Amino acid sequence: MKIIVITLFPEIFNALNSGISGRALKNNLLTLTFINPRDFTHDPYHRVDDRPYGGGPGMVLKPEPLWEAIMAAKSQLPSAKVIYLSPQGKTLTQKHIQNGASQKEIILVAGRYEGIDERIVTMLIDEEWSIGDYVLSGGELAAMVVIDALIRCLPGSLGDEASREQDSFTSGLLDYPHYTRPEIFAKMTVPEVLLRGNHQAIQRWRMKQSLGRTWLRRLDLLKQRLLSQEQQALLDEFMQEYTE
Ligand SMILES: C[S@@+](CC[C@H](N)C(=O)[O-])C[C@H]1O[C@@H](n2cnc3c(N)ncnc32)[C@H](O)[C@@H]1O
Repeated sequence: MKIIVITLFPEIFNALNSGISGRALKNNLLTLTFINPRDFTHDPYHRVDDRPYGGGPGMVLKPEPLWEAIMAAKSQLPSAKVIYLSPQGKTLTQKHIQNGASQKEIILVAGRYEGIDERIVTMLIDEEWSIGDYVLSGGELAAMVVIDALIRCLPGSLGDEASREQDSFTSGLLDYPHYTRPEIFAKMTVPEVLLRGNHQAIQRWRMKQSLGRTWLRRLDLLKQRLLSQEQQALLDEFMQEYTE
Protein backbone atom coordinates (compact mmCIF):
# COMPACT_ATOMS: atom_id res chain seq x y z
CA MET A 1 0.00 0.00 0.00
CA LYS A 2 1.19 3.53 -0.78
CA ILE A 3 0.10 6.59 1.18
CA ILE A 4 1.06 10.21 0.56
CA VAL A 5 0.20 12.69 3.31
CA ILE A 6 -0.17 16.36 2.47
CA THR A 7 1.00 18.12 5.62
CA LEU A 8 2.76 21.21 6.90
CA PHE A 9 4.31 19.12 9.69
CA PRO A 10 5.72 15.82 8.35
CA GLU A 11 7.99 15.47 11.42
CA ILE A 12 4.93 14.66 13.57
CA PHE A 13 4.69 11.32 11.75
CA ASN A 14 8.00 10.11 13.26
CA ALA A 15 5.92 8.49 16.00
CA LEU A 16 4.85 5.87 13.44
CA ASN A 17 8.42 4.57 13.31
CA SER A 18 7.92 2.48 16.48
CA GLY A 19 6.15 -0.81 17.17
CA ILE A 20 3.89 -2.51 14.64
CA SER A 21 3.70 0.50 12.31
CA GLY A 22 7.49 0.91 12.43
CA ARG A 23 7.99 -2.72 11.44
CA ALA A 24 5.43 -2.44 8.61
CA LEU A 25 7.23 0.63 7.25
CA LYS A 26 10.63 -1.06 7.53
CA ASN A 27 9.32 -4.15 5.73
CA ASN A 28 7.76 -1.99 2.99
CA LEU A 29 4.22 -3.26 3.64
CA LEU A 30 3.40 0.42 3.47
CA THR A 31 5.24 3.22 1.67
CA LEU A 32 4.60 6.49 3.45
CA THR A 33 5.73 9.78 1.91
CA PHE A 34 4.92 13.42 2.56
CA ILE A 35 4.28 16.48 0.47
CA ASN A 36 4.47 19.85 2.19
CA PRO A 37 2.24 22.60 0.73
CA ARG A 38 4.86 25.11 1.89
CA ASP A 39 7.14 23.78 -0.86
CA PHE A 40 4.55 25.01 -3.38
CA THR A 41 4.44 28.64 -2.27
CA HIS A 42 5.80 31.27 -4.64
CA ASP A 43 6.08 34.31 -2.36
CA PRO A 44 9.18 35.33 -0.37
CA TYR A 45 7.49 34.49 2.99
CA HIS A 46 6.24 31.02 1.94
CA ARG A 47 2.76 31.80 3.26
CA VAL A 48 0.33 28.90 3.36
CA ASP A 49 -2.50 30.60 5.27
CA ASP A 50 -4.51 33.78 5.06
CA ARG A 51 -7.37 35.58 6.82
CA PRO A 52 -10.90 34.33 6.19
CA TYR A 53 -13.14 36.26 3.81
CA GLY A 54 -16.03 37.71 5.82
CA GLY A 55 -13.82 38.19 8.87
CA GLY A 56 -13.86 36.19 12.07
CA PRO A 57 -11.21 34.34 14.05
CA GLY A 58 -8.36 32.20 12.80
CA MET A 59 -6.68 31.60 9.48
CA VAL A 60 -7.49 29.40 6.51
CA LEU A 61 -5.11 27.24 4.45
CA LYS A 62 -4.72 28.99 1.11
CA PRO A 63 -5.93 27.10 -1.97
CA GLU A 64 -2.97 27.57 -4.36
CA PRO A 65 -0.21 25.71 -2.46
CA LEU A 66 -2.66 22.97 -1.47
CA TRP A 67 -3.84 22.61 -5.07
CA GLU A 68 -0.28 22.16 -6.31
CA ALA A 69 0.61 19.79 -3.45
CA ILE A 70 -2.43 17.57 -4.11
CA MET A 71 -1.75 17.60 -7.86
CA ALA A 72 1.84 16.53 -7.21
CA ALA A 73 0.54 13.67 -5.03
CA LYS A 74 -2.01 12.65 -7.69
CA SER A 75 0.71 12.52 -10.33
CA GLN A 76 2.57 9.98 -8.14
CA LEU A 77 -0.53 7.99 -7.13
CA PRO A 78 -2.98 8.38 -10.03
CA SER A 79 -5.55 5.85 -8.75
CA ALA A 80 -5.61 7.20 -5.18
CA LYS A 81 -8.67 8.65 -3.51
CA VAL A 82 -7.98 12.03 -1.92
CA ILE A 83 -9.16 11.97 1.70
CA TYR A 84 -9.41 15.12 3.81
CA LEU A 85 -9.17 14.48 7.56
CA SER A 86 -11.95 16.65 8.94
CA PRO A 87 -14.22 16.71 12.02
CA GLN A 88 -17.07 17.21 9.52
CA GLY A 89 -16.37 13.93 7.69
CA LYS A 90 -17.93 10.52 8.18
CA THR A 91 -16.89 9.07 11.51
CA LEU A 92 -14.53 6.16 10.96
CA THR A 93 -15.31 2.62 12.08
CA GLN A 94 -13.31 -0.59 11.71
CA LYS A 95 -15.39 -1.37 8.58
CA HIS A 96 -14.26 1.86 6.89
CA ILE A 97 -10.68 1.05 7.84
CA GLN A 98 -10.97 -2.49 6.44
CA ASN A 99 -12.32 -1.07 3.15
CA GLY A 100 -9.53 1.52 3.13
CA ALA A 101 -6.92 -1.20 3.63
CA SER A 102 -8.06 -2.86 0.39
CA GLN A 103 -7.01 0.26 -1.56
CA LYS A 104 -3.53 0.23 -3.09
CA GLU A 105 -3.04 4.00 -2.93
CA ILE A 106 -4.42 6.75 -0.68
CA ILE A 107 -3.71 10.48 -0.42
CA LEU A 108 -4.45 11.97 3.02
CA VAL A 109 -4.79 15.74 3.45
CA ALA A 110 -4.15 17.14 6.94
CA GLY A 111 -5.74 20.52 7.60
CA ARG A 112 -4.62 23.20 10.07
CA TYR A 113 -6.00 26.48 11.44
CA GLU A 114 -9.74 26.86 10.68
CA GLY A 115 -9.37 24.32 7.90
CA ILE A 116 -8.74 24.41 4.16
CA ASP A 117 -10.28 26.70 1.52
CA GLU A 118 -13.67 25.17 0.62
CA ARG A 119 -12.90 25.31 -3.12
CA ILE A 120 -10.22 22.66 -2.60
CA VAL A 121 -12.80 20.46 -0.85
CA THR A 122 -15.23 20.96 -3.75
CA MET A 123 -12.72 20.30 -6.51
CA LEU A 124 -10.14 17.86 -5.20
CA ILE A 125 -11.40 15.98 -2.16
CA ASP A 126 -13.11 12.62 -2.78
CA GLU A 127 -14.04 11.86 0.84
CA GLU A 128 -13.85 13.48 4.28
CA TRP A 129 -12.99 11.25 7.25
CA SER A 130 -13.38 12.15 10.93
CA ILE A 131 -11.83 10.21 13.81
CA GLY A 132 -14.53 11.35 16.27
CA ASP A 133 -16.80 14.15 17.39
CA TYR A 134 -14.13 16.42 18.83
CA VAL A 135 -11.80 18.98 17.28
CA LEU A 136 -8.03 18.55 16.97
CA SER A 137 -5.60 21.35 16.16
CA GLY A 138 -4.51 19.63 12.97
CA GLY A 139 -5.20 16.65 10.75
CA GLU A 140 -1.79 15.02 11.40
CA LEU A 141 -2.83 13.09 14.51
CA ALA A 142 -6.03 11.99 12.75
CA ALA A 143 -3.99 10.83 9.74
CA MET A 144 -1.68 8.88 12.06
CA VAL A 145 -4.66 7.20 13.70
CA VAL A 146 -5.95 6.21 10.26
CA ILE A 147 -2.52 4.98 9.09
CA ASP A 148 -1.96 2.91 12.24
CA ALA A 149 -5.40 1.30 11.96
CA LEU A 150 -4.86 0.62 8.22
CA ILE A 151 -1.50 -1.02 8.94
CA ARG A 152 -3.11 -3.48 11.38
CA CYS A 153 -5.33 -4.66 8.50
CA LEU A 154 -2.42 -5.33 6.12
CA PRO A 155 -1.46 -9.01 5.86
CA GLY A 156 1.96 -9.56 7.44
CA SER A 157 1.77 -6.53 9.74
CA LEU A 158 1.01 -8.43 12.97
CA GLY A 159 3.24 -10.92 14.75
CA ASP A 160 0.29 -13.33 14.86
CA GLU A 161 -2.38 -12.79 12.18
CA ALA A 162 -4.99 -14.39 14.49
CA SER A 163 -4.91 -11.37 16.79
CA ARG A 164 -6.64 -9.29 14.09
CA GLU A 165 -9.60 -11.68 14.11
CA GLN A 166 -10.09 -11.38 17.87
CA ASP A 167 -9.68 -7.57 17.92
CA SER A 168 -12.73 -5.59 18.99
CA PHE A 169 -15.06 -4.72 16.05
CA THR A 170 -13.48 -7.16 13.54
CA SER A 171 -16.27 -9.67 14.07
CA GLY A 172 -18.73 -7.01 15.21
CA LEU A 173 -18.12 -7.77 18.91
CA LEU A 174 -15.80 -6.44 21.60
CA ASP A 175 -12.72 -8.49 22.46
CA TYR A 176 -12.78 -10.86 25.48
CA PRO A 177 -10.72 -10.12 28.65
CA HIS A 178 -7.04 -11.10 28.66
CA TYR A 179 -4.87 -12.42 31.51
CA THR A 180 -1.18 -13.30 31.85
CA ARG A 181 1.15 -14.50 34.63
CA PRO A 182 1.06 -14.42 37.65
CA GLU A 183 -1.94 -16.62 38.36
CA ILE A 184 -2.80 -14.56 41.47
CA PHE A 185 -2.35 -10.78 41.45
CA ALA A 186 -3.67 -8.39 44.10
CA LYS A 187 -5.59 -11.37 45.53
CA MET A 188 -7.42 -11.79 42.23
CA THR A 189 -7.13 -15.09 40.38
CA VAL A 190 -7.23 -15.84 36.68
CA PRO A 191 -10.54 -17.49 35.64
CA GLU A 192 -10.04 -21.23 36.18
CA VAL A 193 -11.18 -22.26 32.72
CA LEU A 194 -8.10 -20.54 31.23
CA LEU A 195 -5.75 -22.65 33.36
CA ARG A 196 -7.13 -26.08 32.53
CA GLY A 197 -5.98 -26.26 28.90
CA ASN A 198 -9.35 -27.44 27.53
CA HIS A 199 -9.36 -25.48 24.25
CA GLN A 200 -13.03 -26.00 23.51
CA ALA A 201 -14.00 -24.74 26.98
CA ILE A 202 -11.65 -21.76 26.57
CA GLN A 203 -13.18 -20.88 23.18
CA ARG A 204 -16.67 -21.11 24.68
CA TRP A 205 -15.71 -18.90 27.66
CA ARG A 206 -14.09 -16.31 25.41
CA MET A 207 -17.08 -16.13 23.08
CA LYS A 208 -19.40 -15.77 26.09
CA GLN A 209 -17.27 -12.92 27.52
CA SER A 210 -17.10 -11.23 24.13
CA LEU A 211 -20.88 -11.38 23.74
CA GLY A 212 -21.44 -10.32 27.36
CA ARG A 213 -19.11 -7.34 27.15
CA THR A 214 -20.68 -6.17 23.92
CA TRP A 215 -24.12 -6.47 25.53
CA LEU A 216 -22.97 -4.47 28.58
CA ARG A 217 -20.94 -1.80 26.79
CA ARG A 218 -22.05 -1.59 23.16
CA LEU A 219 -25.64 -2.76 22.74
CA ASP A 220 -25.67 -0.87 19.41
CA LEU A 221 -23.11 -3.34 17.99
CA LEU A 222 -25.04 -6.35 19.24
CA LYS A 223 -28.26 -5.07 17.65
CA GLN A 224 -26.54 -4.96 14.24
CA ARG A 225 -25.43 -8.59 14.46
CA LEU A 226 -27.26 -11.84 13.84
CA LEU A 227 -26.28 -14.36 16.53
CA SER A 228 -26.05 -18.11 15.95
CA GLN A 229 -28.13 -20.36 18.24
CA GLU A 230 -25.00 -21.23 20.21
CA GLN A 231 -24.01 -17.57 20.61
CA GLN A 232 -27.53 -16.63 21.73
CA ALA A 233 -27.40 -19.42 24.34
CA LEU A 234 -24.02 -18.14 25.58
CA LEU A 235 -25.30 -14.58 25.80
CA ASP A 236 -28.42 -15.76 27.69
CA GLU A 237 -26.12 -17.61 30.10
CA PHE A 238 -23.99 -14.45 30.58
CA MET A 239 -27.06 -12.26 31.16
CA GLN A 240 -28.49 -14.77 33.63
CA GLU A 241 -25.24 -14.88 35.64
CA TYR A 242 -24.87 -11.07 35.47
CA THR A 243 -28.31 -10.38 36.89
CA GLU A 244 -28.12 -13.10 39.59
C1 LIG B 1 -8.91 23.23 14.28
S1 LIG B 1 -9.36 22.07 13.07
C2 LIG B 1 -10.54 22.95 12.12
C3 LIG B 1 -11.92 22.69 12.59
C4 LIG B 1 -12.98 23.41 11.76
N1 LIG B 1 -12.95 24.82 12.00
C5 LIG B 1 -14.34 22.84 12.13
O1 LIG B 1 -14.84 23.22 13.21
O2 LIG B 1 -14.88 21.98 11.41
C6 LIG B 1 -7.95 22.00 12.04
C7 LIG B 1 -7.78 20.70 11.27
O3 LIG B 1 -7.69 19.60 12.17
C8 LIG B 1 -8.18 18.44 11.54
N2 LIG B 1 -9.18 17.82 12.46
C9 LIG B 1 -9.69 18.37 13.57
N3 LIG B 1 -10.54 17.57 14.19
C10 LIG B 1 -10.57 16.42 13.46
C11 LIG B 1 -11.28 15.19 13.59
N4 LIG B 1 -12.13 14.99 14.59
N5 LIG B 1 -11.07 14.23 12.66
C12 LIG B 1 -10.22 14.43 11.64
N6 LIG B 1 -9.52 15.59 11.46
C13 LIG B 1 -9.69 16.58 12.36
C14 LIG B 1 -8.73 18.84 10.19
O4 LIG B 1 -7.80 18.48 9.20
C15 LIG B 1 -8.89 20.34 10.32
O5 LIG B 1 -8.76 20.99 9.11
